[in-house]
This record gives sequence, C-alpha cells and structure tokens, in this order.
Amino acid sequence: MDKKIILTGDRPTGKLHIGHYIGSLKNRVEFQNSGLYESFIMIADQQALTDNARDPEKIKNSLIEVALDYLAVGIDPSKSTIFIQSQIPELNELTMHYLNIVTLSRLERNPTVKAEIKQKNFENSIPAGFLIYPVSQAADITAFKATTVPVGEDQLPMIEQTREIVRSFNSIYGEVLVEPEAIIPKEDTCGRLPGTDGKAKMSKSIGNCIYLSDDADTIKKKVMSMYTDPSHIKVEDPGQIEGNTVFTYLDVFATDKDAVEEMKEHYKRGGLGDMKVKKYLNEVMQAELEPIRNRRIEFEKDIDAIYDMLKDGSDKARAVAANTLREVRTAIGIEYFTKK
Ligand code: TRP
Repeated sequence: MDKKIILTGDRPTGKLHIGHYIGSLKNRVEFQNSGLYESFIMIADQQALTDNARDPEKIKNSLIEVALDYLAVGIDPSKSTIFIQSQIPELNELTMHYLNIVTLSRLERNPTVKAEIKQKNFENSIPAGFLIYPVSQAADITAFKATTVPVGEDQLPMIEQTREIVRSFNSIYGEVLVEPEAIIPKEDTCGRLPGTDGKAKMSKSIGNCIYLSDDADTIKKKVMSMYTDPSHIKVEDPGQIEGNTVFTYLDVFATDKDAVEEMKEHYKRGGLGDMKVKKYLNEVMQAELEPIRNRRIEFEKDIDAIYDMLKDGSDKARAVAANTLREVRTAIGIEYFTKK
C-alpha cells in the first residue's frame, strides 16, 4: 500500500502553547514516528499575513519561534518535511485556479472564518485575502496530495471546503486531486483545551496560555492562578469538577488516571483544597514541559541551522507542489507550450 501523506501547519503569529501541543503537535509526532505516513509540516506565514498585512515583522519573528517549538516537541526534519508556505509560489497559482470553482457565498458561510471575522471586528473591512484563505488552505493540502490532515476541531470547516474543491475540480477536469481526511485528537477536550482562565479556548489574544517555552516559574504561577470552581470557597465545601479547568487539565495531562479519579471524588465530597490540586497539576505540567523546554534551549543556540533546515524543507516541498501544479495546468488545458 502507498504511504499515506500528511499535510498540516500553523500560522506563525506567536509562540505555540499547550493547546497546540495537545490539539495537534503531539499527534503529529506520533504519526511521524509510526512510519506509516510521509509528513509535510508547513509554517503558514502567508496565511498569517492575510490578517497581519501591516505587521510582517511579527510574522517573521514568530516563524522561527514556531520552528523551534516544532523541533522541541520532537518533530524531526529527517523524518518530516518542515517548510515555509511563502517559499512555495506554486501554492498561489493553485489557489487562483481553485477560486474559479468556489462561490463567494460559500466563502462567506465558512463558520471558522465567520467567527474570526467577528472576533477581529472586521465588519465591512474584511481583507479579501482573509476571506479566501480556506481556498489557499485547500491549495496547501492538495499540492501535496495529502490524504490526512491532523488538526484541531476549528479546522474541520477548512477540510470540508477542501474536499468540496477537490470533488468539483476532479469532476470538471478529471481525477487529479486527492480528497483529504481530517484527523482530530481522540479526547474531546483536546480539540479545544480551555485557557487557564477557564474560557473556551486557549488564545494568545486573551492571554490565557501556557507556552511550550515558558520557564518553570512562569508555568507554576499560571497553574496556581488557574480558574477552578468559584463557589468552592472553603476547603470543606463540596466542589464541582465540570468546567473546573484544573481538573480538565489533569484529565488531559496526568498519566496516573486513578490518582485523578481519587482527587475528583475527594473534591466533590469536600475537604480537598484548590491549592493541593493545583500543586499536583503543577508537578504534572512541569514533568511534561521540562524536556520540551530543554530541547528548545538547545536548538535556540544555532538559529542559522534552523534556517538551513527550513530552506531544505522548502526546496523539497516546492518540487512536490510544482509537480501537482503541472498536472493541474495540464488537466485544465493551459499547458500551451508543452509538447505532448
Ligand atoms: N489554518 C491553520 C491554522 O489556523 C493553518 C494552516 C494553513 C493549515 N494551511 C493549512 C492547517 C493546511 C492544516 C492544513 O493554524
């Protein structure tokens, strides 16, 4: 059987946090090491520019942070191709071809884009490039003939839109493109790890994140000030587990599930203080994040080597995308000067 192909990526708008880690990075490392997939991992700088056109410096600086985070969690450039979106101009041409088979009203219906437009207060000033980024994302995915796209839940509408584009393209021009499948993390909380303030999503703009690069003290401070059950005031009070962020994190990160169950029971009965639970969570988080942080510090020592790695990955990715683009142009019938 042919190897399955993975394409996934992140917008470089800041450092990556444990929401990214649990929602997707951890999965990617597993897939990479399974040997069952060929993996392409893309730093989506061009997509990040669709709503940061006036702040390219931020994207440029974040790009290297994201690359460091990848390496720190165990994405290995000898096994996965890590590349930069903007270095693959073929993706833009693919986007243009796909735009002709997508309607404006379909673009306006994408729920993730809709939510972002609201959140960013774009109202009547939506950058056109932003509105069409799902189409450019379809180009990212199809350029590599990806079969599998491991992403967080919020990306499902993008994969759905990609599948529609693939079906229309293939039905008009012939079977060229591959319909991808999304894979989201197993545990339900993983798709959307709440922020430390208990808000729905960990998000840089809200400031409720624990970053993969946070030092031990910062992690401790963030854990100790986490949102719990606001009506659990005295230690003896019975406490709530549902919506209690500390327990949500324990469910996701703790390996000793029995210990967590025991703590939950105790907390519900009353007599277990928030401080104790948080101390335990802090130990769990430190154990998970320390090796990642230490690897990151090692990689930070040679930034030139990181750029070399990204250049190699981009060259390799570009060759693959160029191949697909040639097939697409041939299928459409615009390879006028190529002799058969
Ligand atoms: N939209 C993704 C995000 O917000 C980034 C991304 C761009 C992506 N192109 C992709 C993800 C292709 C998966 C596949 O993080």
